[in-house]
Amino acid sequence: MIISGKELSTRLKAEMAEQVAAFPEKYGRVPHLVVILVGDDPASVSYVTGKAKASEVVGIRNTTIRRPESITEEDLLSLIRQLNGDDTVDGILVQLPLPKHISEAKVIETISREKDVDGFHPLNVAALWQKQPCTVACTPKGIIKLLKAAGVTIQGKRAVVVGRSNIVGLPVSKLLLDENATVTIAHSRTTGLAELTRQAEILVVAIGRPKFITGDMVSEGTVVIDVGVNRDPQTGRLCGDVDFAAVEPKASVITPVPGGVGPMTICCLMENTIECFLRRQSR
Ligand code: GUN
Repeated sequence: MIISGKELSTRLKAEMAEQVAAFPEKYGRVPHLVVILVGDDPASVSYVTGKAKASEVVGIRNTTIRRPESITEEDLLSLIRQLNGDDTVDGILVQLPLPKHISEAKVIETISREKDVDGFHPLNVAALWQKQPCTVACTPKGIIKLLKAAGVTIQGKRAVVVGRSNIVGLPVSKLLLDENATVTIAHSRTTGLAELTRQAEILVVAIGRPKFITGDMVSEGTVVIDVGVNRDPQTGRLCGDVDFAAVEPKASVITPVPGGVGPMTICCLMENTIECFLRRQSR
């Protein structure tokens, strides 16, 4: 079974649109998401465009602020501080990666925790690991929604996560643990990786290497979640971290690239923006 994140996200966005349509009467306005894009990396431009389009579908106000690659760290931080203090702004997202002269850690911790729709702020990360209420990072949240929508039982399963990034690998491992999976985190330095991935009942791959997971690394009946967005060096086409053609016949459930995890990330960003808005309303 190929699970379409595109279909699920379309359905969820329609539900959110209904919810948001009632906000002007209830709260006097709709949620407002500000996305900051530094530079003009084509992948980042495309992600930011996708976020603006989804906002339009859901009825969220979107402001995309573009700044040149040459912006100083201090100027970027002061823009964020200004948005922190702007009562008409509910969510702030700075598209990553940033140019090398800007500290991502500083940028992330400067965004007010209440407006951190990415769930990257140290206080949100700490809250996640302590099972406290928090904004959960969009991609990991979307992955759990996809698994549940596909009817996958997570509890008691052996889950292997390949990749240990702050954005995906670590938080999705924690969410799988919270769903009572037994979780192993593997990465580029893991020895005997194929042996390990063959034991996985749920395999989440976020390592950022095209077609890294080959057919021989997956057992019959495995649930495969492919977070990768890469260019196939041979064809130049978009491909995941999983060799889809080789793995799909063995997998019980698999996500395609594109149209799998990606749309769910954006969908969860919309959900997080609504959550931040509602939290601010109830203050
Ligand atoms: N770059 C790649 N994924 C993400 C994400 O989820 N949020 C932000 N801000 N940047 C990203």
